[in-house]
Amino acid sequence: MAPRVAIADYEAAARRRLPAAVWEFVSGGAEDDVSRGRNAEAFARRAFRPRILRDVSARDASVELFGRRYAAPVGLAPTGFNALVRRRCDALLAEAFAQANHPHIVSGVSSVPLEELARINPNAWYQGYFPGDDDRIARTVDRVGAAGIGTIVVTADVPVISNRENTERLGFRAPFRLTSRLALDGLLHPRWSVETFAATLLKDGIPRFVNLGEDRTGVRVTEDPPQGLRAGRDRLDWGCVERLRARWPGRLVLKGVLEPEDAVRAAELGLDGVIVSNHGGRQLDYAPASLDALPGVVAAVGERLVVMMDGGVRRGAHALMALALGARAVFAGRPFLYAAAVDGGPGVARMLELFRKEILIDLALLGCPRAEDVGPQHLRPHPIFPPSGDPT
Ligand SMILES: Cc1cc2nc3c(=O)[nH]c(=O)nc-3n(C[C@H](O)[C@H](O)[C@H](O)COP(=O)(O)O)c2cc1C
Repeated sequence: MAPRVAIADYEAAARRRLPAAVWEFVSGGAEDDVSRGRNAEAFARRAFRPRILRDVSARDASVELFGRRYAAPVGLAPTGFNALVRRRCDALLAEAFAQANHPHIVSGVSSVPLEELARINPNAWYQGYFPGDDDRIARTVDRVGAAGIGTIVVTADVPVISNRENTERLGFRAPFRLTSRLALDGLLHPRWSVETFAATLLKDGIPRFVNLGEDRTGVRVTEDPPQGLRAGRDRLDWGCVERLRARWPGRLVLKGVLEPEDAVRAAELGLDGVIVSNHGGRQLDYAPASLDALPGVVAAVGERLVVMMDGGVRRGAHALMALALGARAVFAGRPFLYAAAVDGGPGVARMLELFRKEILIDLALLGCPRAEDVGPQHLRPHPIFPPSGDPT
């Protein structure tokens, strides 16, 4: 087998390792998959402006974010249902990101208690899928604070779950039900069945949503809680965020921002940062690529908020492009799940290494030795070969 030398190599290997339904759940997008495709294409349409003959012998990939210096500007986007990919996946991710000192966001739909994850990685952030209910938000936030977590990310682009036809066709949905079709899918992928499915059931039991709210026991991923798994999320509004801001003394970040006006509103409410994101193309299909939405948000609030982005980041070069457009850091979701599926913790550590390696090479090739100095001067101002119409 050829060595895995690029992030894409893990994707190909994960596709072979995971049952079709799990693969579709992790890799897929919503409806026609247009926004997911746009995320990738947006990077391909951008061009660097390399500068030559500069002394680049002292290269530095590190960046500072909210007062902490990280090894590189690539973090883990929050991803839920990780137990489908690998036993205790949330914990192995926490360990790899703590070790490597990269930003790490724990999903609200994770299944290792956030208190344990915060012990493994004291710098982890918590991402909430909050219902529009101040009391429930307050109880969750108190729990997060008591665990010593200092940053809360509010995901704002999931008032309802999108139309995920790709997994529906395969009989896969949350809450999870084991159908004969899924069982056959598992049998065809014996390593996953043994290392992930059977190992999880035998050692930990059916995974539970232990971090969705104040309830640490949580419902099993196979159960529908009394009010439904996503009850009240469609009532979450700016008023809830304003009251959350008043209650939460830590840093508050809004994820799922695509429009500059929404970023301005976040700044006015006293938030600390925004993550420009189309949810990896998994929510509103035909939404723009995150990278294409980034410049507008930076122009509107770049001086007031820490602007970050996610969506389609698969190369060190992609991180540097986002930095050139004003992001302070990027996050990736799927790639780290592919690495976890293929090689567990060591796979994730290796992928982080690949990101750092590519960033350090590209900093030299750009003629800009420090990641923090990458700016608009390193990228052509407009996408090349823009599709017809307004490129912004
Ligand atoms: C399997 C999977 C689960 C996800 N779960 C969550 C989640 O629980 N909370 C959240 O805010 N975003 C979630 N996302 C979206 C990611 O945080 C992120 O926006 C997206 O994955 C970035 O795109 P990328 O996968 O191309 O890097 C999930 C994405 C994937 C692929």
